[in-house]
Amino acid sequence: MKNSNCDVNLRKVAVIGCGFVGSASAFALMQSGMFSEMVLIDVDKDRAEGEALDISHGVPLNRPMKIYSGEYKDASDAAIVIITAGAGQKPGETRLELVHKNVGIFKSIIPQINECNFKGILLIVSNPVDILTYTAIKLSGLPENRIIGSGTVLDTARLKYQLGQHLGVDSRSVHAFIIGEHGDSEIAAWSSANVSGIPINSFCEMRGYFNHEEAMIRIADSVKNMAYEIIEKKKATYYGIAMSVKRICEAILRDEKSILPVSSMMHGEYGIENVVLSMPSIVGKDGIETKVPITVNENECTHLMKSANALKEVISELEF
Ligand code: LAC
Repeated sequence: MKNSNCDVNLRKVAVIGCGFVGSASAFALMQSGMFSEMVLIDVDKDRAEGEALDISHGVPLNRPMKIYSGEYKDASDAAIVIITAGAGQKPGETRLELVHKNVGIFKSIIPQINECNFKGILLIVSNPVDILTYTAIKLSGLPENRIIGSGTVLDTARLKYQLGQHLGVDSRSVHAFIIGEHGDSEIAAWSSANVSGIPINSFCEMRGYFNHEEAMIRIADSVKNMAYEIIEKKKATYYGIAMSVKRICEAILRDEKSILPVSSMMHGEYGIENVVLSMPSIVGKDGIETKVPITVNENECTHLMKSANALKEVISELEF
């Protein structure tokens, strides 16, 4: 199926980088049935081929789909190209410590995408995701709405999950966002958090919890440090981020106009500009339709500024 006004195959996805995150994302996408064609690309061609073979053996057990390893040119007509390539965090390492290595890798990947005259959406997942989304914007020349960072979609899911557990309620009924950096300076936007419209503190009280300050600090810290905890125990995180990738692709492909906390360039919202970070945004077929700058209180605003400044400091060290 071709889109009428450009060379995009809406049934095709490409995954660049076939490490834990890339292959888990490919597996999640295959199971979703959203695409009928998926190309896997990696500098290690055997790795890409092995993952493509392994995942494709699920086809008779799921639904028809062409899954293969390929080259950048095979990604040229994909509706979505997902970049997961790059080094991952080691135990104790921060996402920002990966920056120089992974910016270097992006300097080799993005020009190859540019050469393809790519017309789809670029979804950046590699860490530090905010810095690498900024890098992709600077190097690709694609319109900003078509470059999305997975941002704090996963952190937000972790927050909702923990609140759901804490309050004994379906986590899908919890509405709360993590905003800012996908990393150490991220912010839990408590002032707008609610459970099906009931302010979070009122809902907590309904469930017999009154020590709000302590619970907020404990839960936000746990969410922030969750990747460290998982990496300490199993060396990497991949299933959670793979589900986040699947969710973002779904919002794009189905033109859902879902509000997701993805990472994108700031243009003066909250007085922040020329930095990429996560803010709830409407996501649909054209990528990011518009940001939804939620109301934040003074304390959250201060922390959002700090998060933006921490990212800007890293950006200032980069050369494009
Ligand atoms: C995590 C990685 C994706 O938070 O940064 O699990």
